[in-house]
Formats: sequence, structure tokens, C-alpha cells
Amino acid sequence: MAEPLIVTLDGPAGVGKSTLAKMLAKRLGLAFLDTGAMFRAVAWRLGKDSWTWPEERIADTLHGLRFGLAGAGEATQLLLDGRALGQEIRTEDVGMWASNVATLPVVRRFLKKAQQDLAASTSLVAEGRDMGSVVFPAARHKFFLDADPAERARRRFLQLQELGRPADLAELTAQIEARDRQDRTRAEAPLKPAPDALIVDTTDLDLEEVFEHILEAIITKAD
Ligand code: DC
Repeated sequence: MAEPLIVTLDGPAGVGKSTLAKMLAKRLGLAFLDTGAMFRAVAWRLGKDSWTWPEERIADTLHGLRFGLAGAGEATQLLLDGRALGQEIRTEDVGMWASNVATLPVVRRFLKKAQQDLAASTSLVAEGRDMGSVVFPAARHKFFLDADPAERARRRFLQLQELGRPADLAELTAQIEARDRQDRTRAEAPLKPAPDALIVDTTDLDLEEVFEHILEAIITKAD
């Protein structure tokens, strides 16, 4: 069997990674792996303030968790213990908890292994913070998306409005900046581009433009 193809898409909160990963997965016929959802699921399962627990207590809970993938393309579903994850992990609070547990080496070790195991037999678009730099350093195609925090907060605001979950723009901006700070400065696998990633500043680009840009880079390299 040929080696699975891996495309990595990294970047800060609210930059549009999930939407783009789904678009790419659909176009390229690959599964997609939302690794932020894995950190959110772990944070949600462990619960509030779990990041202050002793490492062994966290490790014990993690050992009982099994991640899986079902379906393909944009319809790929991430499973935890055989069940699809729902909207319960999508709140801003769980996003911050995820950022907190993501500073812990015991959690990062566990999820890195789970992510590599999922990609061992499945070609996929992997999106997160450290996909190109740490988890899949040998991936064939690596991208790092960025945008001004104010623009990312605006995008998240519109997305939440569409979901019927109105939010406060100033509060969203503060949350995004706090999460950025923590994700970029943590000791373990901080958010930063892999040396061989193509960096795309999306502040002034719409989704279609970013998608076309990435797709062209993949096709050019594959030729
Ligand atoms: O992409 P997201 O907003 O769903 O991610 C939630 C948090 O999970 C994010 O603030 C940091 C953490 N995370 C990480 O540390 N590494 C990843 N590969 C993905 C997410």
C-alpha cells in the first residue's frame, strides 16, 4: 500500500482552518482530522480545573479514551469511544480549557500518538497548531495560516451569529488574544510555523482565495 498522504494546516484560533480543511478534504478526497476537537474533547472529559491535577490522575483518565475516524472527505467524523463528538465541545469556555490542557506534556504525548495512529492508515488533512512542526514533520504539504486577531474575532463573531449564538465582539477579541498568547508561548509544541511550511496571511483574503492559493501550491508540488 502507498504511504498515506498528509496535508497539514496550522494556525491560531479563528483563522478558518476547520472550514478550509473540510474544503480541501472534499476537493482532494481525503479525510480530515480536527485536532483542536481532540484537545477540546479531552478537556471536556477531564473537566474544569483538571489541568491542576497530578499527572498520574490525568494519565489514568487518558488511557481509557479511544479516538477514531468515520466517513471521508468533508463528512469525516471524529469519534470518541465510538461516538461522534457534538456541539458540547464548541463553546469558547471549552476552547480555553483545551488551551489549558494543551500546555501539559502528558496530554500532548497522548494526543500526538493518537493523531499519528489515525494517520498511519488514512490519508488526511490535519489541522491544528503543531501538525507540521511536531506531529507530522515529514508531511508532504504544510501550510500555516495567520490573520490579525481583530479580523479573526470578527470571523468567529459572524460564525457564531450564523449558528444562532450571538456573542460580544470585544469579549471574543479578548478571548482570542488570551488563547493566542498561551498557545504561542507554551514550552511544549508552541504554535509556530514549521520551517518548511508555506505561510499564508489571510487577513485580506476571503475563504475561496485562500482555498485556491493552497490548492495551487499542492497541485504544483505534486507535478
Ligand atoms: O482549533 P481549536 O480552537 O479547536 O483548538 C482548541 C485549543 O486546543 C487551542 O487553543 C490549543 C489546543 N490545540 C493544540 O494545542 N494543538 C493542536 N494541534 C490543536 C489544538
